[in-house]
Amino acid sequence: MSGKTYVVTGSASGIGKALITELSKDNIVFAGYRNPIHESELKNISSNIYPFYVDYSLPETIKQAGEYILSKCTKIDTLVNIAGCVVAGPVENLNIEEIRRQFDVNVFGHIELTQKLMPILEDGKIINVSSMASYGIFPFISPYCASKKCLDIFFNTLLLENKKNLKIVSIKPGVIATPLWGKSIDENSKYFDNYGDYSSEMKYLISNAQKNAKNGLPVSKVVNVILKADRLKNPKTSYTVGLDAFFARMISKLPQSWINGIIKLGMKIKRVMG
Ligand SMILES: NC(=O)c1ccc[n+]([C@@H]2O[C@H](COP(=O)([O-])OP(=O)(O)OC[C@H]3O[C@@H](n4cnc5c(N)ncnc54)[C@H](OP(=O)(O)O)[C@@H]3O)[C@@H](O)[C@H]2O)c1
Repeated sequence: MSGKTYVVTGSASGIGKALITELSKDNIVFAGYRNPIHESELKNISSNIYPFYVDYSLPETIKQAGEYILSKCTKIDTLVNIAGCVVAGPVENLNIEEIRRQFDVNVFGHIELTQKLMPILEDGKIINVSSMASYGIFPFISPYCASKKCLDIFFNTLLLENKKNLKIVSIKPGVIATPLWGKSIDENSKYFDNYGDYSSEMKYLISNAQKNAKNGLPVSKVVNVILKADRLKNPKTSYTVGLDAFFARMISKLPQSWINGIIKLGMKIKRVMG
């Protein structure tokens, strides 16, 4: 065992679960879960796993999670912020409370837990699972895109400001086959009936999410990039995972009016093709 200590949030499924399964072979892993039914499942993966409960919609649980980790260890080598959800819908109809939930989970929760763990992250790494959505080019998921961009801005600023020897990395995957897509349908579709003018776009979002859940890249692609960024002494500040994320990055470099033209053309083609 190499004796490194990791904190990983969003570890009960998808990318997080695959990552902690790998890390816990040789390391101590504090693994954040939201749903209490996952605690014993996480313990069963390895005796090196210390599950902790945190729900980013409930601020007191972030405080308790921070206190728990600080009481159990004196140094974290790498904090991997993975927890996330997707709020979808047209900007003009989106429920404001849902937008707040998006930022609570994808941004504020990560900032708050990181702040609590900073005293024991002296010369460690923070690896955030952002998204290609952070390039801000996808209509009807603006809360998700904005939250990921916002996450990247906060943590890049932390990198610039802090006086420790911290390395901070943003991983931006494209479409990955995980339960996120199914959860996003469950959590968002109850609002879709209220979005009258956009009903065909909402139907498309649902069928696209169903396809992505099956056809996305395997979680191992993201896990490998996280492990690489963790291994390197001087990792890059940002990594894309998948061709779609690479193209999203390229498109984002164009003038905004060109980007909008490309996206509108894409939406028109999808409408015509059904
Ligand atoms: N899948 C993709 O195509 C894709 C692409 C780019 C980026 N990402 C990002 O990758 C990360 C991991 O997602 P995934 O694809 O592996 O999906 P996932 O399996 O749904 O993982 C998301 C994790 O976040 C947890 N979570 C959700 N809401 C939370 C809350 N309020 N408080 C604390 N934890 C919460 C979930 O807990 P529960 O198990 O209780 O739901 C789950 O463990 C996310 O940040 C996502 O935005 C995913």
